Amino acid sequence: MTVHFIGAGPGAADLITLRGRDLIAASPVCLYAGSLVPEALLSHCPEGARIVNTAPMSLDEIIAEIVAATEAGQDVARLHSGDLSVWSAMGEQLRRLRALNIAYDVTPGVPSFAAAAAALGAELTLPGVAQSVVLTRTSGRASAMPESESLVNFARTGAVLAIHLSVHVLEKVIADLTPHYGADCPVAVVWRATWPDERIVRATLGSLESSISAEMARTALILVGHSIGAEDFAESRLYAGDYDRRYRPVGTEPRFPEPETL
Ligand SMILES: C[S@@+](CC[C@H](N)C(=O)[O-])C[C@H]1O[C@@H](n2cnc3c(N)ncnc32)[C@H](O)[C@@H]1O
Repeated sequence: MTVHFIGAGPGAADLITLRGRDLIAASPVCLYAGSLVPEALLSHCPEGARIVNTAPMSLDEIIAEIVAATEAGQDVARLHSGDLSVWSAMGEQLRRLRALNIAYDVTPGVPSFAAAAAALGAELTLPGVAQSVVLTRTSGRASAMPESESLVNFARTGAVLAIHLSVHVLEKVIADLTPHYGADCPVAVVWRATWPDERIVRATLGSLESSISAEMARTALILVGHSIGAEDFAESRLYAGDYDRRYRPVGTEPRFPEPETL
């Protein structure tokens, strides 16, 4: 018996991997983080499955559910929003399962930063403009930030910032970032990306209403960086007509001859 940790994606029910869907369908127990996982995904559970919303439960209670399933010889599908590698609380569950010698595996999901970038139709890493994306957040009630990971420190790099869990402190985010990126730096707030009620606000650090509507105060991503909405950037060398590469050798003496001509 195995506990399958599955990234449920950012909200739209069809943004789960085929593997994730099939594991849900094959597991007689499904534990899901109800605050952000779309309920439509539960339709993949087999008939008669035990389906538990873990949003109101403690870690001890969640582990007790898993142990009970294990003792009954049942696989568990464990759903968390987006991808599991960031802010999923998966790490502490895996540590408990290792201590209890319970098998698990992990299936990735579409992270919310990727869904937000898709909603904007944006490539965040544009040649000559930005080549790094920092997935970060600000301090919350339950999680303090390590001192070196302040927004100001990341801002010094000029990287694109994908700021999670922070739209309620938008004013402070703007104040921290403006001295480094400049008031004309593009910013986008994407609320509930891929949900039917998705909303997007595009602005600059200088023009963004710091008091966006109360309904947008949760489940939104703030993307800040000069690549957002940029038109003035170089084309990638990889696809340049004269760029000699293994998959498209160029010239009379290419550096990477076609395999069959070797
Ligand atoms: C607990 S974290 C979960 C992150 C998730 N594991 C991921 O891969 O994106 C929740 C935060 O992620 C962001 N988020 C999650 N889903 C989102 C969505 N559909 N649209 C915009 N932001 C989202 C928000 O910043 C929200 O406060």
